[in-house]
Amino acid sequence: MKIGIPRESLTGEKRVAITPEIAERLIALGFSVAIEPGAGIGADYADDTYLEAGALIQNAENLWSTADLILKVRSPVTSEVERMRSGSWLISFIWPAQQPELMKQFASQQLTVLAMDCVPRISRAQRMDALTSMANIAGYRAVIEAAHHFGRFFTGQVTAAGKVPPAKVFVVGAGVAGLSAIGVANGLGAIVRANDTRPEVADQIRSMGAEFVPVFFEEQGTGEGGYAKTMSEGYQKAQRDTYARQAIDVDIIITTAQVPGKPAPKLITAGMVESMKPGSVIVDLAAEQGGNCELTEPGTVVLRNGVTIIGYTDMPSRLAKQSSNLYATNILRLIEYLCPKKDGKLAIDMQDDLARGTTVVLGGEIVWPPPIPKPALPSGATSPVVYRKAAPNQLNAKKLTRTGQPFILATIGILLLMLVGSFAPPAFIAHFTVFVLACFVGYMVVWNVTPALHTPLMSVTNAISSIIGIGAVMQLADSSIVIQLLAGVALTLTAINMFGGFAVTQRMLAMFRR
Ligand code: NAI
Repeated sequence: MKIGIPRESLTGEKRVAITPEIAERLIALGFSVAIEPGAGIGADYADDTYLEAGALIQNAENLWSTADLILKVRSPVTSEVERMRSGSWLISFIWPAQQPELMKQFASQQLTVLAMDCVPRISRAQRMDALTSMANIAGYRAVIEAAHHFGRFFTGQVTAAGKVPPAKVFVVGAGVAGLSAIGVANGLGAIVRANDTRPEVADQIRSMGAEFVPVFFEEQGTGEGGYAKTMSEGYQKAQRDTYARQAIDVDIIITTAQVPGKPAPKLITAGMVESMKPGSVIVDLAAEQGGNCELTEPGTVVLRNGVTIIGYTDMPSRLAKQSSNLYATNILRLIEYLCPKKDGKLAIDMQDDLARGTTVVLGGEIVWPPPIPKPALPSGATSPVVYRKAAPNQLNAKKLTRTGQPFILATIGILLLMLVGSFAPPAFIAHFTVFVLACFVGYMVVWNVTPALHTPLMSVTNAISSIIGIGAVMQLADSSIVIQLLAGVALTLTAINMFGGFAVTQRMLAMFRR
């Protein structure tokens, strides 16, 4: 098959579907590759580099009409589809739900179209997941754009000219783009907080070094396929209150919240923007879907009440070389998958959920949306698993066993103590009581301390243990000169332990402070 790589026609789009390196790999798979002059220039790939890789340079007219397979980034416009040969193939971002007319045009020209935005989000397809590649880049670039417009450092510093506080960043929505933004902002030294409606994301937020900001309302936001769903009015109100508090406090807000097939939820109100400090920045990554901020103007940057609101809709294109590399690799993986014999021909198995999900038009027939996949059966099972509710008495029995355990243990403990108390001498009981209380207090102190702070905790408890110095002070009054000398030495050593312990603790805690 002959692959054609046209120049992207959308004004300002700098990405290219295939890089010279990937063109070479496609040629090795048995395809021939032709590229429109200047197609790679926005991503810093000159025509010569494609020629060196073994591709041809061909003008747009011939390229569109002779290619068996067109590879693009943005979905083609009507005039471009008209140029395509009947029965040829197209792989590109398509967004079929938003482009019904284009889908009809594909069908009327008997095309076969694979949509990169429809690659199913299953582990097998991760290598082809261009949505993830692009969202990762968008999250990265969002932080860079914010840093460009923000008038201060991200990291806190102590300089000869004074102390600089760290920037505070609040990330709304912690999908791929949000997590990427958290990682970059954290790497630059900012204090990062984030919120998402899907509760399972809280751990991912923390693992990226940010603080999870909860919304105190009993509702979880996981919808179909791991994506978010639209939240209830009650939740939205509680969420607005939480975000309003963050808006007053933070310097930068990066919003990434989206619900598939719906306009982006409006989460940052005009009032919140007004409450932000002058010089603050909002980057709205949902601008293309209408924006998460009420004041976002898609495609541009606006200044409102001293707050810069960035509504760029082409973040991946602003890092054109990186995004072209990743996108081209995603496409190569898809083509390798559809061309297992490496003979330069593509074949689609409609029984395979990966190929089925990605194909939106097959030989002129619209096959989008794909059927909802059946849940996988556990190995060895032959029919769908039926989950039965446990009988009420079974549930009660389980609950009793679990709640009864501590009670039984406590009773055994008390009986043992009574047994020891009735035989042991009174002095033992007094010491034993102090020992048990000390264990209890020590446990309560350590239990609530974050593991990361256990070393400074040990250091401070070591300092406190110098209370034994009181014993040495009492011995100083002894009539024997030898005991006085020994007490003096003991007092000096415990003083070093005490003051040194507190000093070391302060230094350790300073390492955790920003
Ligand atoms: P997305 O771009 O559709 O949405 C971004 C984030 O915004 C999501 O985390 C969503 O929960 C959040 N959000 C939506 N409405 C919100 C609201 N009202 N308030 C606050 N936050 C809100 O999401 P993305 O990045 O495309 O990923 C979505 C899902 O896909 C995730 O479950 C992710 O783990 C999964 N995924 C799976 C992959 C795979 O298995 N190959 C690859 C990439 C993502």
